[in-house]
Amino acid sequence: MNPLDLAPVIPVVVIDDVSTAVPLARALVAGGLPVIEVTLRTPVALDAIERIAAEVPQAVVGAGTVRTRAEVTDARNAGSRFLVSPGCTPRLVSAALGSGLAFLPGVATVSEAMSLLEEGITEMKFFPAEAAGGVPFLKSIGGPLPQVRFCPTGGVRLATAPDYLALPNVACVGGTWLTPAEALKTGDYARIEALAAEAAALRP
Ligand code: 3PG
Repeated sequence: MNPLDLAPVIPVVVIDDVSTAVPLARALVAGGLPVIEVTLRTPVALDAIERIAAEVPQAVVGAGTVRTRAEVTDARNAGSRFLVSPGCTPRLVSAALGSGLAFLPGVATVSEAMSLLEEGITEMKFFPAEAAGGVPFLKSIGGPLPQVRFCPTGGVRLATAPDYLALPNVACVGGTWLTPAEALKTGDYARIEALAAEAAALRP
């Protein structure tokens, strides 16, 4: 299972209320986005991953914002199928590789991408995508490092996703636009499903 190959968009979600985790995951799956990145930015994130892993078998749930060795362990124990990090320190990379889970480390420079290639990693998150150079950066890096596949995240929206997805070195994109805070607050899962369906249609 490679999370990069299952859908054109990976929803990046911030869960404040754990009771929203399962209905939120069901809505994303129903809309056609089975890969879900739950960011470890809230106290209930691990609990949310655990519930989604247990109750939504069609979802491929992973942990995002993984920054430390301890978070790698916690995320794996909660049932994460993959790990995403905003950056790529040597300690974190070694812990993530040791976890046996799919790992998407974040890069924003050519040298970071080259360091990961030295570790045998060829799939990376490009973060923060819009702020770090966006589509022109990925076009440029595709010349010297054509073997890297990216998931650009950070400032990517429905309107800009197609420009990224058209690049040969982009596998999928990530973003938070699919799960607006107000929809989660009001329990508007129909809206989340509709946003997911719109994103899932971006590429067959
Ligand atoms: C991430 O952690 O990948 C970003 O916070 C997502 O960025 P976005 O909110 O601009 O989509």
